[in-house]
Amino acid sequence: MQEIGIGLLGLGTVGSGLVRLLEKNGEFLARKTGIRLRLRRILVRDPEKPRGVSVSRKLLTTDFEEILSDPGIQIVCELMGGLEPARTYILRALKAGKYVVTANKAVLSTYGPEVFAAAEARGVGLFFEAAVGGGVPIVKALRESLSANRIRRLTAIVNGTCNYILTRMTEEGLPFSEALREAQARGFAEADPQLDVSGADSAHKLAILATLAYGGFLPAEKVYTEGIETLEPLDIQFARELGLVPKLLAIGREEDGRVEVRVHPTLVPETHVLASVREAYNGFLLEGDFVGSVLLYGLGAGGEPTASAVAADLLDAARFLQAGARPGPILFRDRPLEIKPLAEVESR
Ligand code: NAP
Ligand code: HSE
Repeated sequence: MQEIGIGLLGLGTVGSGLVRLLEKNGEFLARKTGIRLRLRRILVRDPEKPRGVSVSRKLLTTDFEEILSDPGIQIVCELMGGLEPARTYILRALKAGKYVVTANKAVLSTYGPEVFAAAEARGVGLFFEAAVGGGVPIVKALRESLSANRIRRLTAIVNGTCNYILTRMTEEGLPFSEALREAQARGFAEADPQLDVSGADSAHKLAILATLAYGGFLPAEKVYTEGIETLEPLDIQFARELGLVPKLLAIGREEDGRVEVRVHPTLVPETHVLASVREAYNGFLLEGDFVGSVLLYGLGAGGEPTASAVAADLLDAARFLQAGARPGPILFRDRPLEIKPLAEVESR
């Protein structure tokens, strides 16, 4: 049995979900894979804060250097969120030769090339399934199973918080602020929920998906972005009367090697497959030129589904470490993607 040491950064919604998963399924995973994932240190801001999980106080630290300098930690699992210090810690871990697993779409969609290059230069792995789709394996689908296709179109619901809010407003007439409070209480929202409702989190995720689908880095700032804050209950009522359902869609389209990317509220016919994606579920409808239509669906936010993706990445990283194999590059080329100007999109 090989033991792999993990340094966890963050013990919030997702970090606690991971602790619970390892507690519940750790033995099973060890029997199944021959790999025991062991949490050696956990970085938090406040070690005295009451937590909903049982972890020994001795594991908690406020000093990242303790994690970086521990030779028993082979994988750093970043679940803090935010741009800094998360970016710096990820880069320092990679440069120190540690594998990194992260759920941080903000960092990846802003500093992707720097982070990918650091992993490649050191020959270590960077895994980020949990950054998009919570528990839905969309990252692996694009990087692996569908990688031989030209993805002509991607239409997706990628933000659980917005989808939860829209569902509660549409089906129960809940005011926006109350629905948002519920989404926060359930652990779906970002620490700063403005990232969710402004569409920024969806733009981060769409940028990562476009980067993986088309092979060149697409920064989130290039995604045309509108959020759901301006939607009024009356808009929703009229839409319902017309047989339409409001959804915050992330749309990517490729034509002649150029890519169009946008996030905005859209009225979807009740009969459309994405109309039935409710609450914090995510849905990804992809059109590949050879595979045709593919639909992926599942819980896109919350501690447990996201921990499922994080733990799978930890096992993937552990397999590379076990085999002494060098992971390949994340991007096929350094050139950024060419973005189709929005004016051209609107004139269609
Ligand atoms: P969270 O509940 O806010 O937890 C963040 C954790 O990081 C807390 O334990 C916090 O410590 C710690 N932390 C934050 N800044 C720190 C710093 N400067 N130094 C040390 N510790 C620090 O966040 P979350 O919802 O678990 O999300 C974590 C990451 O996963 C984010 O990148 C998020 O976008 C991503 N994600 C979240 C979900 C979801 O459903 N929540 C789903 C997919 C991806 P304290 O506890 O001491 O304050
Ligand atoms: N805040 C995000 C959401 C978490 O609601 O989708 C999952 O990435």
